[in-house]
Amino acid sequence: MFVNAKEMLQKAAKERYAVAQINVNNLEWTKAALTTAQEQKSPIILGVTGGAAKYMGGFAVVAAMARAMDKSLGITVPVAIHLDHGSYDECLACIDAGFTSIMFDGSHFPFDENVAKTKEMIALAHKNNMTLEAEVGAIGGEEDGVVGNGDVADPAECKAIADLGVDFLAAGIGNIHGVYPDNWTGLDFGILTEISKLTGGLPLVLHGGTGIPVEMIQKAISLGVAKINVNTECQLAFAAATRKYIEDGKDKQGKGFDPRKLLAPGADAIKASVKEKFELFGSAGKA
Ligand code: 13P
Repeated sequence: MFVNAKEMLQKAAKERYAVAQINVNNLEWTKAALTTAQEQKSPIILGVTGGAAKYMGGFAVVAAMARAMDKSLGITVPVAIHLDHGSYDECLACIDAGFTSIMFDGSHFPFDENVAKTKEMIALAHKNNMTLEAEVGAIGGEEDGVVGNGDVADPAECKAIADLGVDFLAAGIGNIHGVYPDNWTGLDFGILTEISKLTGGLPLVLHGGTGIPVEMIQKAISLGVAKINVNTECQLAFAAATRKYIEDGKDKQGKGFDPRKLLAPGADAIKASVKEKFELFGSAGKA
């Protein structure tokens, strides 16, 4: 059931669990995410980067494909389709394309500009019954060409952006996109506590969900994180399962080269990763 992300994240913040944003890259990904959400009775946010949308043929293609799949598979759990790290123009494109939620990432702008542009996007999103995620303190690492410094957010700036009326807020707290390096020092819970206090119950978003240790995930949720984004982990699981299929020579047996067979182990691996995330984040059974 296609919805914006407001109610699902407010409920998550109140009941202290997190909704997974699972980034999707193609039809198989979308189907794996949606069917797992339905099986696990979990709300879900399908994340789409500008790069992934371009790969699939554009934002309108992804939105139409996901919406049609939601309907034809009879998905009854809440599903939001959300632009991940959107530029100003990508946000406008997603409003037209039938997304239900957008992230405007103005974290690389001077703060005043981030405020002005975020404010404008909130009005546009809300006029279209969409939810808006903003970002303060750039998330480190690289995702589909979006590169961040790994800043730690200033809690006062988080409050200023929250007060504009954003629906949920991503704040850099030492998290990065991609695999964490061996010398990673972990999440900054001191900053998260301050942000949480100042933003009073606003659902907070943790990007870079791949590879964060279980205890840190649980602590982050206890401090107000209600949405956790996962991308790389599903990509790694898909690649490993597909590699095994080929290395085992399965594509050479019978009609093993049929894409519906060739891509099946990868899709099952995504399903297993997504199920694990729902359980870890506490969203299974909440829809
Ligand atoms: P990972 O790729 O590290 O899981 O991060 C995903 C993300 O934060 C999407 O915005």
